[in-house]
Amino acid sequence: MEKIVVEGGRRLEGTVAISGAKNAALPILISGILADGCSVYRNVPDLRDIRTVMALLKNLGVHVHTNGDVVEVDGASIKNHEAPYNLVKTMRASVLVLGPLLARLGKARVSLPGGCAIGARPVNLHLKGLKHMGADIRLEHGYIDAQADRLKGACIYFDIPTVTGTENLMMAAALAEGTTTLKNAAREPEVVALAETLTRMGARITGAGTPEIVISGAKALTPVTVDIIPDRIETGTFMIAAAVTGGDVLITGCKPKHLEAVIHKVRQAGVKVEIDPKGLHVVAGNGISSVDVKTLPYPGFPTDMQAQFMVLMCLADGLSVISETIFENRFIHVCELRRMGAEIKVSGNTAVVQGGRPLTGAPVMATDLRASASLILAGLAARGLTEISRVYHIDRGYEAIEKKLAALGARLWRTRESP
Ligand code: EPU
Repeated sequence: MEKIVVEGGRRLEGTVAISGAKNAALPILISGILADGCSVYRNVPDLRDIRTVMALLKNLGVHVHTNGDVVEVDGASIKNHEAPYNLVKTMRASVLVLGPLLARLGKARVSLPGGCAIGARPVNLHLKGLKHMGADIRLEHGYIDAQADRLKGACIYFDIPTVTGTENLMMAAALAEGTTTLKNAAREPEVVALAETLTRMGARITGAGTPEIVISGAKALTPVTVDIIPDRIETGTFMIAAAVTGGDVLITGCKPKHLEAVIHKVRQAGVKVEIDPKGLHVVAGNGISSVDVKTLPYPGFPTDMQAQFMVLMCLADGLSVISETIFENRFIHVCELRRMGAEIKVSGNTAVVQGGRPLTGAPVMATDLRASASLILAGLAARGLTEISRVYHIDRGYEAIEKKLAALGARLWRTRESP
């Protein structure tokens, strides 16, 4: 296994370009199986999760071809309907094939995702929605076995707005008979990007980006060429990297509109954030003010930025309260940050951060994707060396992170962990 070593204390300066969004690319690549032909996706990030989704598609018999950041998915070549355990356990988002397989082939066998480090993350709302659309669903031997002659449009209410649940049902509805209405749907930009893709493929969709999405299914969908939207979480992570190193960074190729809550909170912390024609210009101010944050579904503050924002608050001049309302166990990074000198108390879904304690480098362990990002950020701000083990988590969702940070002046490198 590999570890990343960060030598802290260097000010980040310069320009960084943002990659395509992992969480937009995953459902959009999968939507390729809905068309009877070859779709082309551009600006696809080179990530471990993207390689997993390509393996998943290949396992369905689908021809997938990659050339740099361009990926072709030939939906006409689909042969199988099974997403096996070894792929789903590597990446929970594999469950996104369930709706499209049912809609396209009338059957799907998908391993049931288990819990993960950040929470139980059930998929009951995905299944409930598909049942409403007429699917017969059985859970046996750790697999979801689903069948439907042709899915039928239905009115579905989500008890909780779920991102991949909304995406799964939107893809199923795009080939279903009649109209499907999704109420209390997720409003994330990645949901909107998928809706735009499905619309260009021939489905009629209104309301994406609002809590009510209406999808009129088509008999067949056509292949498309799509550019993946920029990654808003990678953007936010580089904003914090600039802020915690007293830096001055221009973040290009991003979409500030997708980050309003993050920009608002980072500015409240005293960091200068200018919306530039090229992207976001982030300049650290004199000192960091403490700010309270509560994670919420979009357009609220994203849970995927909570760990990184906590690092900023570790350096702030007072107490801040961080509430996590999306996942029940998303404070795992706290114990590692404490080992670096942070003073953080956790009670239930609330963390109270006493800022201003100096961070010092330490050996720490990555536990999930965003937690690992927070440890790299803490390492950048800390005195001395931070060694982050289990970095395969970071490779799931940050393209070339060491290279991008090094180009801004950070000093970090990857080595083998000693046994
Ligand atoms: N939930 C249920 N039942 C369901 C579905 C969800 O109870 O059937 C609950 C979840 O347990 C959670 C809440 O609803 O408490 C919201 O979860 P959601 O379904 O929205 O999460 P997700 O779709 O599994 C996506 C992202 C996550 C991101 C969350 C929240 C992808 C591939 N993943 O997950 O991204 O944290 O939305 O915004 O889009 C990451 O990139 O690091 C990551 C974890």
